[in-house]
This record gives sequence, C-alpha cells and structure tokens, in this order.
Amino acid sequence: MSFEQNAKRNFPKWPIYDDKEINALKNVIKSGDWWCGAPGTHQGENVWAFQVEFARFQEAKHCVAVCNGTVAIEAALMGFNIGLGDEVIVSDYTFVASASAIIATNAVPVFCDIDPETLVMDVNKIERLITQRTKAIIPVHLVGNPVEMDKLMEISSKNNLFIIEDCSHAHGSRFKGKRPGNWGDAGTFSFQASKVLTSGEGGAIICNSKELADNIYSYTDCGRKKNCYYYTHFSYGTNYRMTEYQAAVLRTQLEKFPSQHKLRNENANYLMNKLNEINGIRTMKPTPGTTELGWYVFPIIFEPEKFSGLNKMEFYKKLNRNGIPTVDCYPPLHSLDCFKTINLKKGIDYSKANWGGEKSDDKNFPVVSSIYSRSIEFPQEMLLASREKLNGVVEFIKSLKKE
Ligand SMILES: Cc1ncc(COP(=O)(O)O)c(C=O)c1O
Repeated sequence: MSFEQNAKRNFPKWPIYDDKEINALKNVIKSGDWWCGAPGTHQGENVWAFQVEFARFQEAKHCVAVCNGTVAIEAALMGFNIGLGDEVIVSDYTFVASASAIIATNAVPVFCDIDPETLVMDVNKIERLITQRTKAIIPVHLVGNPVEMDKLMEISSKNNLFIIEDCSHAHGSRFKGKRPGNWGDAGTFSFQASKVLTSGEGGAIICNSKELADNIYSYTDCGRKKNCYYYTHFSYGTNYRMTEYQAAVLRTQLEKFPSQHKLRNENANYLMNKLNEINGIRTMKPTPGTTELGWYVFPIIFEPEKFSGLNKMEFYKKLNRNGIPTVDCYPPLHSLDCFKTINLKKGIDYSKANWGGEKSDDKNFPVVSSIYSRSIEFPQEMLLASREKLNGVVEFIKSLKKE
C-alpha cells in the first residue's frame, strides 16, 4: 500500500452519526410536523426544545434558531435596527458571510486587521476605524479562538457601539470564564456541515435580553410575535426559520459534543507541542485568557525559507497528496473579488469603506495578508484522529524540511 493510501485510511469522517440521528429524523417524518410551527399553530417539538438546550449549553438566557449562520448575523444586525448609512467593523480574516450579512442590511462593512499570533481581530486597531457612522462591531472568534472581549467591550461602551459576536466556530469556547456570545449584545452561530455542531445547515442567535430576542424572532418569522395570531405581522420580517429536521439532528449532535470536544482539545494540545518543536512551523496561539477552545480547525503557519522555499500551494499539495487532510484558510475579505470591484448592492455608497479598488491592496492589511500567504489548516478529521495518525503527520512535515 502506498503512503498516500495508507495515510488516507483511518482519518475519521465528519460528520459522525449513528442510529440516534437516523431515528430522530424518522420520528420527525412520522410526526407529520416538519416545520417548527408558528404562534397559534402547532409548536414543533425539536426547534423549540433545541433553542432551550442550546441557550443552556452556551449559558445564555435566549436562543433563536434559524436556517443558517449567515442569516443569524443579518437577523442580529436587524435586531439593532442597523442598516442604510451605518458602518460595521468586522475582522478581515473570516468567511465572506461575516461581511455579506452586513451588506444584506444595506450597511457597510469596514475591515480590521488581525493579531499575528492569535489570528483574530486585533482590538488595538479598532479605534482608528470608528467613524460617526459606526454602529456595531462583529468580532469573529476564528477557529474558536476568542477575540479579547474584555478590551473590546471597553471600546464599545466608550463609543456606544453594539457588539455582535460571530461565534460560528466557537461552540464550547470560553474566555475568562464566559462563553462567547455572552460578552457582547448577541452571539451568532452556524451549524453548517463542517462546524463542530452540525445539521448540514443551520444557525442560531443567543442573547440575554428578552426584548432583543423577541425582535430577532419577529424578523426571522415574518414579523410575527410570539403568542399572537399567526396572520398578524407586526413589523418587517422574513422567513429564516429552522426546520424540525435540522433541530432533531442538532439535539442528538449536542449529546455527542462533549466527548468530541475533549478529543479535539487533547489532539490540538498534542499538535501544538509537537509542531512548535519544528523549526519553521508555528501554530495559532490561544488568546491569553482562553479557558476553553472549540477548535473548529487547526491552523499552522510555516516559513517557506525553512522548507526549501515551498510556497503555500506547494506546501498544501505536498500534504494533501500524501493523504493528510488539509484545507485552505479563508482568503482575507479585502482580497475577495466582490470587495475589490465594489460590485455589491445597487444604490449603496461604499466609497467610504476601507476596501475597494486600490484600498484593497494587501499593504493596507499587512498582518492578515502575510499570515494567509503562509498558512494552511487541518480540518476536524485531524482533530478527531488517533495519536498514531498525528505522529505520522508530524513526521511527514519534518521530512519536508530535508527535501
Ligand atoms: C465565521 C463564519 N461566519 C459565518 C458563517 C456563515 O454560516 P453559514 O454557512 O451557516 O451560513 C460561517 C460559515 O462557514 C463562518 O465560518
């Protein structure tokens, strides 16, 4: 058997499921109640129970479940009435959705560079981005690594800004004892296929204000209010409801989470120790004050000159072709075509944003551009793999230095 075939064997497949998920789905089908219901109609068993269970899990008072993590951010922004003429500061190093949700509300995103060690938004660079138009900040806890929320909250209260934490990677993380999503005004989650808690697609917003939770619920359920006749629509709203299928799967996945989270953490700690011993490799540093980390993926940063000048793509291919599950990181937002060419929404003035045309040059976002050019990520298959597999990966990376 070739090294490639051998290497590919025995990496666990994600998502992990068993009869519990299959039976949960069968039960939804047999119940005939396939949607979560609306006030005054039936109340779907799973969505409403999941909201309670997920709020408890994230240690928040309220949870609104929605159909994906992108609209979760949009709904949170709408809950604060953010829209035309407003600016929202967001990390430059994230999935496009963190910014496209801002565009959806007709507000303008402004991108913030990252800290080179922790890879999350550098809170020391935020104040220079605040203008008269700034209404909110979206810190993204990339990979589950928390943004320095205590410092960020000082900035937001001084400047009267809303904080919506994008926790799409941060299920189960904890910073200075508090779960992400509880530091700011609201936290949003994704349950898309690759996430550590998944139903293929899905999302949620958590918060600790009943009024805000009610506003967000109304927006995501056609402008309805809980406990009112279902054909009354009090405000502008849309349909972002989660289905019973999604919630049924999430409830069983939630039971599996603790043991997977433990293994992800053991493996991440092992990889951190082993990989940082290799001259030319460094791993993401947990933000000081992190008490738990969700480990959505495991990023590594390499120095090309210590690897015979291999560029990022060559390094990535060497790993992937040898059966080591490897993925690319998010290209920084400022470098995406949609933000370079400003081909976004009709009638919205993007000229004051800190991206677009020449402003999108990498030199204006030096830290994230440099990190992106020399980093790759290991997905969950690695974080849930056996110790033997991890040792094989470490040895393979060492062998690349000798070529
Ligand atoms: C940081 C971040 N924010 C938002 C989202 C959007 O979530 P979804 O794909 O569920 O819409 C994602 C999804 O990958 C994400 O990684």
